[in-house]
Amino acid sequence: MSEQTTTLAITRAVPGGEARVEEHTIPYHDGLTLLDAIIWIRRHQDPSLAVRFSCKANACKECSATIDGKPGFLCAQRAVPEATTRIEPLKKPRLIRDLVTELY
Ligand code: FES
Repeated sequence: MSEQTTTLAITRAVPGGEARVEEHTIPYHDGLTLLDAIIWIRRHQDPSLAVRFSCKANACKECSATIDGKPGFLCAQRAVPEATTRIEPLKKPRLIRDLVTELY
């Protein structure tokens, strides 16, 4: 039996710079949240990927991002096996870096 994977297509940028999309395919398991997936990417593939979070419990709102075109919390949404999820920074707040935007 082969291991399931999930892919994240993450938009990365710095203020005033050109945005680029990086795809990361990682191991999938039941219950894997998008935030868990990004933390896995930071630990195993690219520690320079910027993301902000605190509670990991859908309360602090620090992990807000645009997920498949809609605003949401990375810690509250599950990764999808054998599929690609698009993740971008929020569109309105000022961009700080990658998925991190200014907090309201
Ligand atoms: S980490 Fe707090 S809402 Fe996601």
